[in-house]
Amino acid sequence: MQQIRATVAKEFELVNQLIIDQLHSNVDMVENVGHYIVDAGGKRLRPLLVLLTAAALGRCDDRHITFAAIIEFIHTATLLHDDVVDISTLRRGRPTANAQFGNAPSVLVGDFLYTRAFQLMVRLADMDILAHMAQTTNTIAEGEVLQLTRAGNPDTTEAQYLDVITRKTAILFSAACYGAATLSDRDEQTRAALQAFGLNLGIAFQMIDDALDYDGDPATMGKNVGDDLMEGKVTLPLIHTLREGNATEQDIVREAITTKSTARIEQIVTAVKRCGALDYTRARARHYHDLALENLSQLPDSDARTALVRMTELAINREH
Ligand code: IPE
Ligand code: IPE
Ligand code: MG
Ligand code: MG
Repeated sequence: MQQIRATVAKEFELVNQLIIDQLHSNVDMVENVGHYIVDAGGKRLRPLLVLLTAAALGRCDDRHITFAAIIEFIHTATLLHDDVVDISTLRRGRPTANAQFGNAPSVLVGDFLYTRAFQLMVRLADMDILAHMAQTTNTIAEGEVLQLTRAGNPDTTEAQYLDVITRKTAILFSAACYGAATLSDRDEQTRAALQAFGLNLGIAFQMIDDALDYDGDPATMGKNVGDDLMEGKVTLPLIHTLREGNATEQDIVREAITTKSTARIEQIVTAVKRCGALDYTRARARHYHDLALENLSQLPDSDARTALVRMTELAINREH
C-alpha cells in the first residue's frame, strides 16, 4: 500500500486535507459523525485510483484532487447507509456510526456527504462528469435496493449476484477511472478502457470482500465476519455451496439464508470451505483481475501504471 501511494504521495495528502476541510458544517452532529468515520481511515482506494489514473495519463492536477475527494465522500456515504441496512456493528476497527450514534444520525450524515459530493462536483463544472456521477450514484442506490430484495432468497443466481456487485461496488471504481480520464481530456477509447479497468477491478474487489466475510480475521479487516449471512445475503461463496455442496450442506445453507440466521455459522463456514466455494470465489475474482490488467495494458508504461497493476493485485490478495 505504501508503495502504491508513493507515486502520488503529495496529491494524496492534498486529497485528505480537502476531505477534512469539506467535512465542515455549522451543525455539530454533522462534524462529529463525519469525523468519526473519516478519521477512522479506510484504505482510500478509490481516491488513489483517481490520482493514479490521472498520473498514468500524464498529470494529476487540482481538478483530479477535487474529484478524488468527491469519490471518497460518495463511498463514505454509502458505508454509513450500508451499515444501517446491514445492521453492522464494526467498521474500520471501530464501532460503526450506527452503533455509536444511532441509525438516524448515520442516515442523515450519509445524506450530507452525498450532497456535499455534488456541491464539489458543481465546482468542477464539467457536464460530462456531472451526468456520469448522477448515473453512477443512482445505479449504486439501485444495487443496494436490488440486493435488499434478493436477501433471503436462496435461488439467487450467479448472474444476479454479479449484477448486484457491479451496481453497488464496481460502478464507483469505474467512475473513479472514467472521471479521471475525462478530466485529463482523453479520447473516448482511452476513457472506455479505463472505465472497463475500474469495473473489472471493482468486481474482483467485492468478490474478495464476500470471501473474507467467511474466512477473514475481524481484527485485520476491522469489520465482523458473518454479517452477510446474518442479512440473508446470497453472495458467491453461498451460491457455489448451494450448487456443489452435499444434500446436508445445501439444506443448512438454504435454511440459514431463508431465516437470515447465523446460528449455524460454524457448520456453514466448514461447508463453504469443504466444497471449494472460497477457492471458486477467489478464482472468479482472479478472472476479473486478469481482465482489469488487460484493460491497463493500453496505457503507456509508467510508475503510476505499475502502481495501478499493484493495486489490482492487492485487490485479490488482500486480507482487509
Ligand atoms: C468497503 O470498501 C465496501 C465494499 C465495497 C466492500 P473498502 O474496503 O474500500 O472500505 P474502506 O474505505 O477501506 O474502509
Ligand atoms: C458493499 O457491500 C457496500 C457498498 C458498496 C455500499 P458490503 O455490505 O459487502 O460491504 P461491507 O462488507 O459492509 O464493507
Ligand atoms: Mg455491509
Ligand atoms: Mg462485505
